[in-house]
Amino acid sequence: MQKILTSKWTKGAVFCVCLIPLALLIWRGFQNDLTANPTQFLEHRTGDWTLRFVIITLSITPLRKILRLPQMIRFRRMLGLFAFFYGCMHFTCWIWFDKFFSWPDMWADVHKRPFITIGFTGFVLMVPLAITSTAGWIRRLGGKRWQVLHRAIYVTAVAGVVHYYWLVKSDVRKPIEYGVLVAILLAWRFGDWVTGRRKQIAGGHVRRPEPTTAESA
Ligand code: HEM
Repeated sequence: MQKILTSKWTKGAVFCVCLIPLALLIWRGFQNDLTANPTQFLEHRTGDWTLRFVIITLSITPLRKILRLPQMIRFRRMLGLFAFFYGCMHFTCWIWFDKFFSWPDMWADVHKRPFITIGFTGFVLMVPLAITSTAGWIRRLGGKRWQVLHRAIYVTAVAGVVHYYWLVKSDVRKPIEYGVLVAILLAWRFGDWVTGRRKQIAGGHVRRPEPTTAESA
């Protein structure tokens, strides 16, 4: 398993898999199969994939610790950037097909519709995370500060769930399912922090900071 995880081919394969949602959308576009309301269809698909990739990215740390596969960290940066990529597509669909680049219209929506306000907040928070995802930025900020900044991904995850919950009119099952996943990930993170603190107090040693993705890639 470790051999597979460290292979350069695996990274390439994961990259290709992450492009499948985009490829399917392009394929359906060429087939004229984007439903009777293509704008809504594209907004829904890209929104779904943004939230899925945010959740997948957040699952890497718990999984690598539970499964004792530290090499999994190699994929975290790429998955996070794919979350941002689908987020950009989602945002672009809204700007282009929904708002036709009308800035006053967009501004009014961000101000007046709470589900847009919270979605926008979640998206804006992803921007500094994408920019500072490189090894150079980790060095410049320092591992500790970089990690504190990158906790904003949890805010994006919660914002994405609330955004989804507020926009659905009746069937709230899907946003609740996403919400449960995000709650489990947050609870795990909190539990891990508490365990680390206890060990630190008991052993009198300083807890080693989490590896940053670029360090261990
Ligand atoms: C600038 C920021 C954003 C804008 C303007 C925006 C706008 C929208 C719009 C207009 C819809 C469709 C609403 C409808 O059908 O009535 C939607 C759906 C959705 N958005 Fe966003 N969004 C933003 C950011 C985000 C972010 C950051 C996430 C995830 C982290 C996200 C996740 C979703 C999800 C999951 C859906 C529903 C998908 C489905 O129905 O299957 N959005 N968004």
